[in-house]
Amino acid sequence: MGLCFVLTISFGLCFVSIFAELQRFEHPTKEDGSLSFLVLGDWGRRGAFNQSQVAFQMGRIGESLDIDFVVSTGDNFYDDGLIGEHDTAFEESFTKIYTAKSLQKQWYSVLGNHDYRGDVEAQLSPLLRKLDNRWLCLRSFIVNADVAEIFFVDTTPFVKMYFTDTKEHTYDWRGVPSRKAYIKNLLKEVELALSESTAKWKIVVGHHAIRSVGHHGDTQELVKRLLPVLQANNVDFYMNGHDHCLEHISDTESPIQFLTSGAGSKAWRGDIKGTNREGLNLFYDGQGFMSVKLNQSNSEIVFYDVFGKVLHRWNTSKQLHSSV
Ligand SMILES: *[C@@H]1O[C@H](CO)[C@@H](O)[C@H](O)[C@H]1NC(C)=O
Ligand SMILES: *[C@@H]1O[C@H](CO)[C@@H](O)[C@H](O)[C@H]1NC(C)=O
Ligand SMILES: *[C@@H]1O[C@H](CO)[C@@H](O)[C@H](O)[C@H]1NC(C)=O
Repeated sequence: MGLCFVLTISFGLCFVSIFAELQRFEHPTKEDGSLSFLVLGDWGRRGAFNQSQVAFQMGRIGESLDIDFVVSTGDNFYDDGLIGEHDTAFEESFTKIYTAKSLQKQWYSVLGNHDYRGDVEAQLSPLLRKLDNRWLCLRSFIVNADVAEIFFVDTTPFVKMYFTDTKEHTYDWRGVPSRKAYIKNLLKEVELALSESTAKWKIVVGHHAIRSVGHHGDTQELVKRLLPVLQANNVDFYMNGHDHCLEHISDTESPIQFLTSGAGSKAWRGDIKGTNREGLNLFYDGQGFMSVKLNQSNSEIVFYDVFGKVLHRWNTSKQLHSSV
C-alpha cells in the first residue's frame, strides 16, 4: 500500500492496484458434470410489464432443468437503478418477484446502463447480499463452473455516448475514474483470463449486445474492442441484454453465438433493424428468457416466451477429449 502510494506520486503507475484482478467464484457442477442455468435481462419493474409472468415461467422451467444458478445480463432496476442500499425496489423487483423454489439459487448479475443512472455502488454492496443471499452483482468477475467458465464484463463504460451525451441522463461514474484506462485494463484482464481458461465452454456475459438487430443494434465499441478478444480465444457464447428482446445470431467469422436475453419485463418495441441481418437465427421482441444446459460434449440453448413456450432451440456438440 505504502509502496503503491509512493509509486503513484512518482510515476502514476498504480493502475494495477486500483483495478484489481478479476474476482473469481467457484460454482460446483452437478454430480454428472453437467450444468444448467437461466439467463434473464432488463427486468426490475416491481412485477409490471409481465415481469411476474416471466418470473413464474422461469420457476417452472428452472425446476424441470434443475438449474444451478441464474445469470442476469443487467438493467436490474428500472428506471434509474437503485437510489441507495435501502431502496425498496430491491425487494419489490427482485426478492418478492422471483419466489419460485427453483430460483432460490445464486444469481450472478452485471450492471446495465440504467443501473449506472442510480447509485451504482448500492447494487454492488454486501448489504444487498445480506438482504437476499441469492444476490451477487459485481462490475466484472469470473464464475468457474468446471465444465464452463463464465466471464462477466462491465460493458457500460465502453459506450462513449454515455460520457458525452449527458443532457438527458446522468451516470454514476464512481469507480470509472478514466474511461480509457478502465476499458484498457478490463480488456487486458479478460484476455488474460480467457487465454488461461481450460474450460470446455467459454461464455462471456455483458449488458450490451455485440451483435443485435433490435432497437439499439450492434454496439460498435464492443465490435471494435471486445469481439476480437473473444474471437481469438475460442469463446463459444456471448450473452447480453440491453435490447428488450430475445435473439440468436451466429458470428460469420468464428463459432461464437450471440445470444440476447433482455426480455425480462417491458418489451414489444416492434423495431427490427433492417441493416446487418447476417447469421440471424431468432428475433423475438416479446417477453421471455433463455436456458443453457452444458456438459463435456453438448450444449443446448433454449428461448422461451412469457407462457414458457419454446421459441427456439440450438444444440452444439464438441468432441469429448479435444483440448479446445
Ligand atoms: C404480456 O404478454 C402478453 C402475451 O405475450 C402480451 O400480449 C401483452 O401485451 C404483454 N403485456 C405487456 C404489458 O407487455
Ligand atoms: C451430454 O448431454 C447429451 C444430451 O443431453 C448426452 O447425450 C450426452 O451423453 C452427455 N455427455 C456426457 C459426456 O455426459
Ligand atoms: C437438442 O438436444 C436435446 C437433447 O439434449 C434434444 O432433446 C433436442 O431435440 C435437440 N434439439 C435440436 C434442435 O436438435
